[in-house]
Parts: sequence; structure tokens; C-alpha cells
Amino acid sequence: MSKRFYITTAIDYLNGQPHLGHAYEKIVTDVIARARRSFGQEVFFLTGLDEHGQKVQQAAQAEGQTPQAYCDALAADWKSFAQKLELTNDDFVRTTESRHKEFVQAILAKLQAAGEFYTKTYEGFYSPREESFLTDKDRLPNGTFDPAYGEVIKLQETNYWFKLGAQQNWLIDYIEANPAFIQPDYRRNEVLGFLKHNTLEDLCISRPVTRLNWGIPLPFDAGYVTYVWFDALVNYISIPAAHGDPACSAFQSASGQRPAAIELWPADIHVIGKDILKFHAVYWPIMLKAMGLPLPKQILVHGWWQKDGAKISKSTGNIVDPLAVIAEWGLDAFRFYVLRELDIGPDGNWTDASFKARYQAELANGLGNLINRSLSMLKRYRNGVVPARSDELAPEATKIIADTRALLEQSQLQAALLAIWALVTRANQYVDQTAPFKLAKDPAQAQRLDEVLYNLTETCRVLAVLLWPFLPGTATKIYAQLGLSDAPDKFSTAAWGGMQPGHPIGEPTPLFPRKDV
Ligand code: MSP
Repeated sequence: MSKRFYITTAIDYLNGQPHLGHAYEKIVTDVIARARRSFGQEVFFLTGLDEHGQKVQQAAQAEGQTPQAYCDALAADWKSFAQKLELTNDDFVRTTESRHKEFVQAILAKLQAAGEFYTKTYEGFYSPREESFLTDKDRLPNGTFDPAYGEVIKLQETNYWFKLGAQQNWLIDYIEANPAFIQPDYRRNEVLGFLKHNTLEDLCISRPVTRLNWGIPLPFDAGYVTYVWFDALVNYISIPAAHGDPACSAFQSASGQRPAAIELWPADIHVIGKDILKFHAVYWPIMLKAMGLPLPKQILVHGWWQKDGAKISKSTGNIVDPLAVIAEWGLDAFRFYVLRELDIGPDGNWTDASFKARYQAELANGLGNLINRSLSMLKRYRNGVVPARSDELAPEATKIIADTRALLEQSQLQAALLAIWALVTRANQYVDQTAPFKLAKDPAQAQRLDEVLYNLTETCRVLAVLLWPFLPGTATKIYAQLGLSDAPDKFSTAAWGGMQPGHPIGEPTPLFPRKDV
């Protein structure tokens, strides 16, 4: 048994429908998972939903439903959304599942026994809308609180707290000694800056059931449920435990069938958005250390999408509906745009105009045109039969294949797409330079035409393999049009020369129909 490459997304709050930001994170993670599988690694890709909390409880109440019924209905939409994005996730966690809840309780019981929690009465300001306690640090210069907090009230409440105070120094040392732990670098520096200039306050882990009952009951005090992070973050290990991962076995309850065990923990990559960095890079490592578990190898932090330069927001109607875009333009056009437009790290801006421009220039006129004219010429001039091997474009293709692999290993998805598009551009230029339509008119140029057609056909095949993690539907179509019956899902087959002379290709059909834009 060997450890799988284990990659996760954040689990989304179950209020409302998925939007562009959720879709982006899941697609990024899917591309990394597919790339690793294509390299021959065994992968486990986990995504899912964070279903507890006051907002869900209130939303359910407002609709006259039980929280569970409310969650079940919405979770079905989110699961089907994951399928529409063609995510290759191996499991889908819902924090309301008993496999998760029992595991959280086992951990809480163990940490309580180890003296990691204590009770404290807090008196101060509280934002019901944001479900959080506020301190003077949260005040604006004029003494009020940010309107985003809604009405701020005074509250006195006794809760359980997790001790963080003594943990700061080893975490700073760890982050400094492991540059890959938080990526990109500027996010890592942000965490280091935070840790060096602030004293960590202990983390509140509970809410009294009188105020919030849609949560996981504390196993040692029926008056409380656990609150937010001790529930949500633990999904990253509760699901490995449910799959029998020996790394998490110390917490497993004796009950329940154990499936064939797979080794997952520690995670190789947690993909998250910048807003939840502190929870993943500060609280989660400290929680794991208290549990005696190793830390994840990497926290990969992406930026936030805006639309037309403004915050995405349901209330103002400034949204991108991924499903509407997919219905009109196709899934791969959507996947391509978000991955090509935005590197993992900075914030991005969606505009319909730039979406259409990339579709037209890079997909329709770039990739689509290359595949279509290459295969159409092979059909027309050689009856669709692959000619003798020729290696004219091999050196350039081979370099781009190696570059793409190296970039994918670093999760540099945008740079990998740029490398792949260099080959698209080169091959389109090769058509213009060699002018096969002229060669075809001159019988003395028959061998030259064979060479050109081989180079083009083979480049199309190589491109399909390189594109597979990003645009799986398109890659599959290219293989089908090439008359190849296997899938383009093994990176090793990208090596130049895979196309066999004498092989009959299939029917060329446009991959990205031009639209009047
Ligand atoms: N439930 C918590 C995460 C718990 S992880 C143990 C949560 N949920 S969320 O639904 O608010 O956000 C889920 C993910 O979507 C986060 O990584 C967040 O950064 C990301 N995004 C939400 N809106 C986004 C954009 N506008 N743009 C890009 N990503 C965004 O936080």
C-alpha cells in the first residue's frame, strides 16, 4: 500500500447556489488532480460541503423546513454542479454525514481528555450576521463597526476554547523552514507577518445549543455544539479515516464497516481562497499538532474573482452563473477561460468581453482552427491516412512537453497553458509557412507534403495529451477525430512519434464553432 496524492478543496457553505468563485477553486483542483493521474500517480481528490451553522439554521427556518431537509435539497444541486464541471473527485463530503460527525466527536473527546480545551466567559460585542465576537481592534477609526457586520450587540456567553497561545514559535519556525508549505510566497509572508506581529488569541470552538443547535454536539457537554472550524477543517481527515487511512486510525470509532484501507494523510495540497488562509495556515496546523498528526504538505492559495471590477454579490446582481456560461459556450470554454485568465494567487476580473475574446482568438482561431485544418488536409490530400514519420517539429514539441510537465508539477496552471499555446501558435505558423495547399498542387512535392502532414497530425495528438487535465472533453474529441480509441489521459504518451504511419484518422469536426461576437 502506498500513499496517494491527496488533494482537497475548501468545503463550501451551503447557502445559495454555487458561483464563479466556487467553480474556479474546484476546477483548479481538478486540473491538478487530473495532471497527477496523467503522470501515473494514484490520486484522491476530495471536495464537499460545510453544512452546519446559524445561517443554514435561519435559512431553513425561513423556508419552514428542518435544517437537514434544507441541506439535503441544496446538496443535491451542489453535487450535480460538481458533475457538470466534470470534476474527478473521489469522494464528496457533507459535514452532516455521520462518518464525519462521529470522527469530529472522537477528536473533541480526545483533545478534551488531553486538557487542550477550557471554558471561559466572554463579554463583549457580537455580530449575529457574521456569527463572530468583535473586539476594539475591529472598530473603524470613528468607533463604529464595519456595516458588513450588521447590527452589533453586547453578549455574555460561556464557551469552550482551544489553547493556541504557546504555539506561535514552532509554527513560525516550521513555515520558515518549509517554503513550499504556503504558496504563493507572498501569502506565506503574509502569514509570517501575522504570526510575528500578533499574539494568537485562543480559538472559540463552541456555541451553546440555546443559540445554535445546527452543529455537532460536544461529546463531553450536551449544552454545546462545536462551532465552524473544528467541524469544517476536520473534513480533511474524517474522510481519510472513513476510508480506513491508518494515519487517522487513532481517532476511529470501533463501529461501522471499514472499507479496504487507503493511505491519504497528510494531504499533499489544500487548495483554498485567500480569505480562509489564517484558518488553514495557523489554526489547522496547531489543531493537527495537538492531535499528533503530521501537517499537510502545501496550502495553495488562490485569489478572488470579481465581475466587471466589482465584488460578486447576489444582492447587487453582480454575478456570473457558471451553468449559464457552460450552456452557451461549453464546459471547456469555461474551464479554459478561468484557468488562462487568472494565475493561482492574484485576484481576477471576469468580463464577458474578455471571455468572448479569448474564446474567439485562442480556442476558435487558435486551437480549433489548427486541429480542423490539419485533419481536413490529411483527409483531403491523403485520404485520412497518416504518412511516414517526420520529426521536423519534434525538437520544439519535446521541449514544450517537458516544460508543461515541470509546470504542472509545480501547479503552475496558467504558465502551463501558455506553454501549450506556444505549440498551438507554432503549428499554425508552420501551416502558413509550408503552405500544404500549394504543395498539394505539385506532384513533385508529394514527399514534402507527407512530412508536413505528419508533423501537423502528430502535433494535434501531442496537444490532446497536454490539454487533457485542462480541457478533458476537447482532448477526448481530438483523439476521436484522430481515430484513436484510447484516452489522451497518460502524459507519457505525449512523447513525439506516437502517431503510427498508415493509421486512418476519423472525421474532422469543428471543436469551437465560431460565434458572432
Ligand atoms: N466553509 C468555508 C470553508 C471551510 S474549509 C474547511 C468557506 N466556504 S465558502 O463557501 O465561503 O467559500 C468556499 C471557497 O470558495 C473558499 O476557498 C473561498 O475563498 C472561495 N470563494 C468564494 N468566493 C470567491 C470568489 N469570488 N472568488 C474566488 N474564490 C472565492 O469559506
